[in-house]
Amino acid sequence: MKTLRVNLPGREYDIKIEKGIFDESGSLIAKIHPKCKAAIITDSNVGPLYAKRLIDSLENSGFSPFLVTVPAGESSKSIEMLEFLYSELLKQGITRTDLIIALGGGVVGDLTGFCAATLLRGIPFIQIPTTLLAQVDSSVGGKVAVNLPHGKNLVGAFYQPKMVIIDPLCLETLSDRNFSDGMAEVIKYGVILDEHLFCQLEKTSSRTDMMEIIDDVVLRCCDLKRMVVEDDETDTGGRMILNFGHTFGHAIEKKYNFTDYTHGEAVAAGMVMAAELGEKWGITLDNSSERIRRLIKKYNLPDRVAIDKQSLADAVAVDKKGKGNTVALIVPEKIGKVIIKDTEKNSIWTQ
Ligand SMILES: NC(=O)c1ccc[n+]([C@@H]2O[C@H](COP(=O)([O-])OP(=O)(O)OC[C@H]3O[C@@H](n4cnc5c(N)ncnc54)[C@H](O)[C@@H]3O)[C@@H](O)[C@H]2O)c1
Ligand SMILES: [Zn+2]
Repeated sequence: MKTLRVNLPGREYDIKIEKGIFDESGSLIAKIHPKCKAAIITDSNVGPLYAKRLIDSLENSGFSPFLVTVPAGESSKSIEMLEFLYSELLKQGITRTDLIIALGGGVVGDLTGFCAATLLRGIPFIQIPTTLLAQVDSSVGGKVAVNLPHGKNLVGAFYQPKMVIIDPLCLETLSDRNFSDGMAEVIKYGVILDEHLFCQLEKTSSRTDMMEIIDDVVLRCCDLKRMVVEDDETDTGGRMILNFGHTFGHAIEKKYNFTDYTHGEAVAAGMVMAAELGEKWGITLDNSSERIRRLIKKYNLPDRVAIDKQSLADAVAVDKKGKGNTVALIVPEKIGKVIIKDTEKNSIWTQ
């Protein structure tokens, strides 16, 4: 079993990664927390696949688990669902010495994490991510949130889990589209920080091949995210590089009403746009944008999505990473290295 230690003063935690580790969840948690009630929050797809095994594992280690299920899908990241969770957990008599466990993808992780951060002013929580996106991205770093009708992730907190338990075998039940969705974030890590990882991805040609090396790939991505988060826990500086492909990606998601393209698909096309812009500016060198485009296509992600200037302009205008008239665009210099380029908002589509 591989362990990564996330060192945030006073909020340290371990990420445990190994194929087949899922059924050891109870004993792993017992090492860091006394026996108690354990609320498992999951969704309507993941629950039927994995909840029983987690309940058994927790019971075998002396915990008293109970299950709360929310409907699968982004619409569960809402204030209404949060209230539902508060009320279900309070009905079960949960206290601050108990535990909350998120079992699912990024939706369950973000919703559960924000519930844990706020109910009774904070209850310890554990992440057991079951999508590739959640394993390499959302479960690490402590960003938790729900959406408002005004936009995504507008009510949230930085609240670190007590442990993250990652079993890459859980990815076997994902649809191909959802697997590819997560691959966009994996490719992102390669471009922003790790040429070796990028080359590894270039050498792999199918999901089956990828599953052969998935432990190493997930471990590497989590380690990269760990480094970035340790350096900038609350996202005021260096963490910004994780936004590579996301400024344009968010514009695409919005333009297509968050339905036609998944987050990963939009980010994939956004990464190509950022690299091609970088190439035009003379920043992105060494055929990097073409290599990014090829890799994206190999993982069945779109390398191009039609988007008009106005939609781009609207999205850039409200980008959270913007200040005044400029937006911080993440642009690759080469594979494994990006720069943050403050760019005039108006100049992006006139270049
Ligand atoms: N907190 C962060 O830092 C951060 C970072 C990136 C994304 N996010 C958030 O993550 C969310 C997206 O996460 P996601 O892509 O995991 O979506 P998701 O949680 O909706 O999961 C995608 C789908 O896969 C299903 N599923 C999950 N695990 C499965 C499994 N093992 N087998 C079969 N089906 C399974 C889910 O039920 C769902 O239908 C967004 O809300 C986004 O804002 C958060
Ligand atoms: Zn993302």
